[in-house]
This record gives sequence, C-alpha cells and structure tokens, in this order.
Amino acid sequence: MAERLHRILTERQGSFVSGEEIAARLGISRAAVWKRVRSLRGDGYAIEGARGAGYRLNGVPDRFTEAGLRARLRPGGPWNAFTFLDVTDSTNSRAMEMAENGAPHGTVVCSDAQTGGRGRLGRRWVSPPGKNVYISLLLRPDISAAEAPRLSLVAGVALADALEEMGVPGELKWPNDLYLGDRKAAGILAEMASDPDRVRHIVIGVGINVNMEANDFPPEICGKATSLRLRAGRPFPRVEPLARFLCAFADRYEEFLAGGFAALQDGWDRRDFLRGRRVLLRRRGDEEWGVAEGVDGDGALRFRPDGAAAAEGVHSGEILEFQR
Ligand code: BTN
Repeated sequence: MAERLHRILTERQGSFVSGEEIAARLGISRAAVWKRVRSLRGDGYAIEGARGAGYRLNGVPDRFTEAGLRARLRPGGPWNAFTFLDVTDSTNSRAMEMAENGAPHGTVVCSDAQTGGRGRLGRRWVSPPGKNVYISLLLRPDISAAEAPRLSLVAGVALADALEEMGVPGELKWPNDLYLGDRKAAGILAEMASDPDRVRHIVIGVGINVNMEANDFPPEICGKATSLRLRAGRPFPRVEPLARFLCAFADRYEEFLAGGFAALQDGWDRRDFLRGRRVLLRRRGDEEWGVAEGVDGDGALRFRPDGAAAAEGVHSGEILEFQR
C-alpha cells in the first residue's frame, strides 16, 4: 500500500497531490493516507504536507541495494558477492572475518553506518548513517606480502578516477588519502593476512565522505575534512561513487597485476598532492622534515630529508604535517 502511495507521489514529483485525491485513488480514508505518509517518512522519504494542498514528494531515501549497484556495474568484473549491512562496527572487520571463513576473491562488504569505523594509526573514521560510502573489498591476489601495500595506492588511483568522472577531481596524498582542495574527503585502510611470503587475503577498506555537511563533522576534524557534496555544492546518490569506484578499481587492479604499480604511475603523478611540498614524515618511530619528490614505480614515497643531497624511497610511513 505504501508503495502505491509512493507511486502516486512520484508521478507528480515536484507538485502537491491532495489528500482527497490520494484517498480516492487508494480507496482508503484520509486518516489512513496520513498513516501511510508517516510510514514512508519513517523509511526516509521526504514528504512535505501542507494544509489545503496535500502532500508533495521532495526526496527518496538514498539506500544501497544489490540490484541498484549491479545495474551500474559492468558484467564480467571481479565483484561477485555483496553483503549490505545497515550497521556494523567496521566493514573491514566483517570482511576480514569473512575472508577467514573462506569468502571468495571479489567479495564486497558495504554498510550504511559504522559504529567503530577505523582509520589508519588507530584513528576513528566518522561513519554516520545515510550520508557516506563505507566499503571493504576482499581480494586474494597472487602477490608477495611486500607488494601488498601497493594495492591501497591502486585503490587511491581508482578512487580519483571515479571522482574525476563525476566532475569532482581530487588529489592523492601518499599513501592513502584523497583530498579535495586542501581537505580530506576519503581514506583507505588496507589490512591483510599473509603466509611468510605470499598474501592469503587483503581487505581494502574505503571511506568516502559523500553527502556530509559541515556540521556533520565533529569539531576535531571540521577544519580538515570535506565531502563531495561540500566540494560540488550538490548532493550525490551514494551508489554513484560506489559503482564508479568498483568499476575503476576492477580496471586498475588488472593493470597492476599485469605491470605493477608502475603501470598506474601516470594516474598517481598527475594527482600527487604532496609532490614538491615540505612534509613531516614519521617512519619507524622517528619524525623528520623534508621534501616529497613524488612516488616511484614501486609506490614508495620519494622523500629528501632536509639537508640530504638525494631522495630515498619510503615504503611505509605517515605524513604528519605538510606545508600548505
Ligand atoms: C584513513 O584515512 O585513516 C583510512 C580510513 C578508512 C575508512 C574505511 S570506512 C570502510 C572501512 N571500514 C573501516 O573501519 N575503515 C575503512
């Protein structure tokens, strides 16, 4: 029944339909119409009611569905099993568990909200419902443990591809952040299990701030974080960045397997946020200022410490500060 009411309002999206007309078409009382309106609102439909005018549909809920996502993916890609959750502590934790229980390569875990979203270095990832994309990809590549961290750079390039297609070009901050202007809009957290040499599985977690508004961010990150919506000045259906990212990742992953990170180097270089900036690097517990001179074909940061004649390749570390 709520579905038929939805259909009537959708036919006239943008204008009011009187309660009387709805009641007549559905063969129910005006009070029953009101009950159904309330139930649709509870499902996230934005229905405006105005005395004398009736009801108007202003917006439909932005929900993920497997059918909605599959309709936007190309056939033949690696994504073959989807888990959609309303809420979980962390999609990375779910995907790691599923991996241990034998879930296949190409499993995608997506949640509307996270109660314990994790960022790098034990930071929390702000994950309210209805606003953003939180996903984890389970991969079982035949690569060494040393090569595995490059996959999160691959994800970064794919994410930048996806957002560029949507008209929201971003930059990549080594190793795992996507920036829009001088604020972070997305982050990647890769976790893996490996045997002494080969990777058993790797989970690539991606958080994209899609429709966050300024007051959705907690004060401690308010001046540093942004969203696609804030950058572009309009909201996005969340399935769009999600589907575009999955398509782009499928392509970039193939390129990586065939040619290593070097095959994606152009995709990184033209969006390198840090290149030429002075940065404070933390590695192996030490902090050091220097200049970021790009990323090499292995995905290592080329870092020239202050006073040093040449840059060295840094495979793992964190940029704590950078000059704006
Ligand atoms: C970072 O920038 O520090 C990485 C953030 C990664 C957040 C995503 S959201 C989906 C997945 N689940 C998590 O708990 N974390 C990642």
